[in-house]
Amino acid sequence: MTTPEARVLDADALADVVELERVSQRFPLEAPRLKSALADNNEHLLGIYRNGRLIAYAHVSRLPFDAELQSLLVAPRARRQGLAATLMQAVEARARGWNSERLLLEVRAGNEAAIRLYRRWGFGEDGRRRDYYPSLDGAGREDALLMSRGLRQA
Ligand SMILES: CC(C)(COP(=O)(O)OP(=O)(O)OC[C@H]1O[C@@H](n2cnc3c(N)ncnc32)[C@H](O)[C@@H]1OP(=O)(O)O)[C@@H](O)C(=O)NCCC(=O)NCCS
Repeated sequence: MTTPEARVLDADALADVVELERVSQRFPLEAPRLKSALADNNEHLLGIYRNGRLIAYAHVSRLPFDAELQSLLVAPRARRQGLAATLMQAVEARARGWNSERLLLEVRAGNEAAIRLYRRWGFGEDGRRRDYYPSLDGAGREDALLMSRGLRQA
């Protein structure tokens, strides 16, 4: 199966992103947050469509010196097909285009799939925020790992 390219999403993609969040996440991001991101020049949403459906997207923000990955989400049935890797490539290109020094992100400490992906992408661990997220099983809290990757050395 060929991997479709990631493209920049605009305001017309709002309903598609809301739907992808709804079907894929325990705590989906909601329309107002996504709408303002789609309208902001310092935020970029990149998406992959297959057969007219949005099946994966990433959201990256421009900060004064760095860029931050806000979201990376692949529809459950489309996982392990290299779509996150394709999005990470597009995110990195976007951050380099902004001349960002580093790409930053936060991830649930128990999210092994994402942490493996980020490590493979050259991210290192900078620290941890204790009890940052509500836990996915509804009981208690989960730490956030803070990770980053320099963009200037390569
Ligand atoms: C994490 C996520 C984005 C990965 O998407 P994906 O399209 O399945 O990832 P890819 O197919 O591009 O995989 C790239 C690499 O990531 C790692 N990886 C991805 N899923 C993995 C899993 N379930 N277990 C272990 N490693 C995994 C592997 O190193 C993989 O390379 P490989 O397939 O050659 O072994 C996806 O599982 C997802 O959307 N999860 C829910 C949302 C989420 O956790 N987002 C990150 C929040 S910070």
